[in-house]
Amino acid sequence: MALTPATDLGPATALVCRECGTTRDLGPFYACEECFGPLEIAYDFQGVTRESIASGPRNIWRYRGLLPVPANVADTPNTEPGLTRLVRADNLAESLGLQSLWVKDDSGNPTHSFKDRVVAVALAAARELGFKVLACPSTGNLANAVAAAAARAGIRSAVFVPSDLEAQKIITTAVYGGTFVTVDGNYDDVNRLASEIAGEQDDWAFVNVNVRPYYAEGSKTLGYEIAEQLGWRLPDQIVVPVASGSQLTKIDKAFQELIKLGLVEDRPYRVFGAQAAGCDPVAAAFKAGHDVVRPVKPDTIAKSLAIGNPADGPYVLDVARRTGGAVEDVTDAEVVEGIRLLARTEGIFGETAGGVTVATLRKLIDAGTLDPAAETVIINSGDGLKTLDAVAPVVAPSANIAPSLEAFRAAGLA
Ligand SMILES: Cc1ncc(COP(=O)(O)O)c(C=O)c1O
Ligand SMILES: [Zn+2]
Repeated sequence: MALTPATDLGPATALVCRECGTTRDLGPFYACEECFGPLEIAYDFQGVTRESIASGPRNIWRYRGLLPVPANVADTPNTEPGLTRLVRADNLAESLGLQSLWVKDDSGNPTHSFKDRVVAVALAAARELGFKVLACPSTGNLANAVAAAAARAGIRSAVFVPSDLEAQKIITTAVYGGTFVTVDGNYDDVNRLASEIAGEQDDWAFVNVNVRPYYAEGSKTLGYEIAEQLGWRLPDQIVVPVASGSQLTKIDKAFQELIKLGLVEDRPYRVFGAQAAGCDPVAAAFKAGHDVVRPVKPDTIAKSLAIGNPADGPYVLDVARRTGGAVEDVTDAEVVEGIRLLARTEGIFGETAGGVTVATLRKLIDAGTLDPAAETVIINSGDGLKTLDAVAPVVAPSANIAPSLEAFRAAGLA
């Protein structure tokens, strides 16, 4: 696939290797030709101000001047994700002994997870690069987002997931009507298969494989939004769920860009990663002081985070260490308790990934790793309606009664 003079990838100027720094021209590439390291987008940002952002659409395209997407991206049919609520979480803060806490509630996106952000950017770039089909291997949420975005754009989707996924995530992908394949294997098996298929199907954009450099940039919008919604400043601490590690590293990249552009004050912030104990390769490497991440076989109810061989794991370690953060993991029982705590205190029903993040927040506070006096943001990256099985055994109505006042009184609930 060759770029034409009409190709418009906005402020993106080149692809640069994260490992060896070799640059190459923009195109449908994702691995360095010199060292096989992952490629990242390099930019020349022009004329991006707080005012230019504020006058943009009420979705992620207000940040299009900071993304590898064409100038007219907002005019092409897309799911228009982003600008989700930043919720002041005083009740949860009080129950955890924190002074100032916010929940970035990304369950408010069109398919109810942060994946709509990355898919919207991948779709826009894939179109410019000449791809015809939007595809992905997924732990569930990405499947929803790709199938919906392709339907909206009027193109074909091809989605591959582990067959043991939550029923809610299977149904909410199948409904959009694309090609949808369940695979008898775990996510890492599905990911390997996707790479093989990508090698044969020239015009399939596997968003998180062969257009990954573009896709990953979509997570920067979480960082931009948090800063803008705080009144153009950075929080002191942020806790982010980690699967491949892309979201965490890109929130950090967003904060760094905002500092360099002078859009926020340059002051220290700490980034914390959250994993489930049943899939904790990055947390384990962090605690052991390792630079490499040893793959694991996932076994956790947090299926959306069940990536045993995380592509961006080493870069999560870099960010956590550079900023004075940490990567911690929590048990499945703690995940369930985290989901319930967020729901009970703030009226926000997060999926298992949200439970991982809340439980990790609690563990970091209890360990004295996270400063309870510092302003903190946590990400709720998905919707609890997609992982009902996690809480079904432990929540229930207060009573079941006959439709009479007498029965209500007898139940002792007044
Ligand atoms: C709800 C949810 N949160 C967080 C993540 C982690 O994303 P990343 O792979 O960017 O670390 C995922 C990934 O699938 C997810 O579905
Ligand atoms: Zn390289």
